[in-house]
Amino acid sequence: MQQVNVGIVGLGNVGLGALTILAENADQIALKLGFRLNVAAICSRNVESKTLPPSLGPVLKTNHWRDVVCHSEVDIVAELVGGTVVAKEIIDAATVARKSVVTANKELMALCGCEIWERAIQAGINLAMEASVCGGIPIHAVLREGISGDRVTALFGILNGTSNYILTEIERRGGSFESILNEAQKLGYAEADPSADVDGFDARSKLAILAALAFGEKITPSDIYTEGIRRIMPVDFQYAHQLSHTIRLICAARQTPSGLILSVRPALLPQSTILAGVQGAYNAVWVRGMYGEDTFYYGRGAGSSPTGVAVVSDLMRVAREIRAGSPERVSPFAHERLGEYQPIPITLQKSAYYLRFRVEDRPGIIARLATVLASKHISIDSVLQIQTENWRDLPFVITVEPTTEESIREAIAEMAAHDYLVEPPLAMPMEKPL
Ligand SMILES: NC(=O)c1ccc[n+]([C@@H]2O[C@H](COP(=O)([O-])OP(=O)(O)OC[C@H]3O[C@@H](n4cnc5c(N)ncnc54)[C@H](OP(=O)(O)O)[C@@H]3O)[C@@H](O)[C@H]2O)c1
Repeated sequence: MQQVNVGIVGLGNVGLGALTILAENADQIALKLGFRLNVAAICSRNVESKTLPPSLGPVLKTNHWRDVVCHSEVDIVAELVGGTVVAKEIIDAATVARKSVVTANKELMALCGCEIWERAIQAGINLAMEASVCGGIPIHAVLREGISGDRVTALFGILNGTSNYILTEIERRGGSFESILNEAQKLGYAEADPSADVDGFDARSKLAILAALAFGEKITPSDIYTEGIRRIMPVDFQYAHQLSHTIRLICAARQTPSGLILSVRPALLPQSTILAGVQGAYNAVWVRGMYGEDTFYYGRGAGSSPTGVAVVSDLMRVAREIRAGSPERVSPFAHERLGEYQPIPITLQKSAYYLRFRVEDRPGIIARLATVLASKHISIDSVLQIQTENWRDLPFVITVEPTTEESIREAIAEMAAHDYLVEPPLAMPMEKPL
């Protein structure tokens, strides 16, 4: 059977990972497909400096991505450059040239996936983006195929490996956020500019894509309430453990009777919950369906080889389709807002909360905080205080019974003006066991 030809643009972590698998695993891939998946062209800004897999056959090497997109033999273009500018130009040009596209680009697909898919369908080409969320976990295939017969009611994920690594190291060793971040940067687990990871924006792009797939709703990243992990201290884990919980950066999409509530934020999770066991740079997604109930997916969220597998598997899926003829394509992104799943403000969410205060110790503090909570009709569940020497910066915790995010925000805003506080109170929702 005739081979299908691939052109790869971008030979960084993901591009070289995919290329290595395509070269080293070529015979087994051909056996699985019934035809060969051949790499015809590769492109990178500094292609001449790249160490290529020895088993790679003859291939066009270029610094100009248009050489790949316009190559007469290339059937599928893999966009593995990243960012939203050049990557979009590559995908647009491939679409115009009627070449199918595989991409790992979460940022671009979260921002304009809907429009990109629409153009791909009009051009009669296929588009695959498995590697864009949770590198090594085939979560797109799960939501688009595996459990597509179900009606998803909630999705929770740990979608950013860097944040999870930092949180689990603070938990394990008790170091400060800054010192663990510093180490992670030296080890190459965190970028020099860590903001996308630790402030939640990378996870937000991923949740925007997963929520669109799970609920068929048009989600824009700004629909998602986002808060990072910079304020988490070792003492928060000590208090969380006293409450039989841990802390993770949780990406949540939950259906409520009034609409969909979306958030990326640090939250307390019961230690008995399967997501609480996700350590280090691993990712996980937990999905609840109306019919099939709970399913859980776990694996490496990034890295050259796990993400490379996702890219190669997408190339195989698209190549099969090119060989077998195209089924009718349906975009995974919705084109309009659907009433029942329409995003609604986070302020409507109801949850128990963990409130952590750092205070200069003096009499009457608890009474003043309790007065504010009572004025918002918030009931205290427990007060926790670990003994410390430093009376000028004493951390303690109040947990409260389920209330709305709006009431908590009002209470926090009022408390923040109290002069004994070292910093504004930190509020985190306490998730129920999943
Ligand atoms: N890293 C992961 O584990 C991971 C996981 C999931 C998804 N992703 C996504 O995968 C994509 C790639 O990530 P990455 O980590 O592989 O990035 P990376 O290591 O920075 O690699 C990007 C590559 O693109 C090339 N490039 C940049 N601009 C170019 C241009 N104008 N023309 C041709 N080549 C160009 C670079 O060339 P030179 O090297 O020659 O300068 C580099 O090889 C991103 O969308 C990312 O979000 C990454």
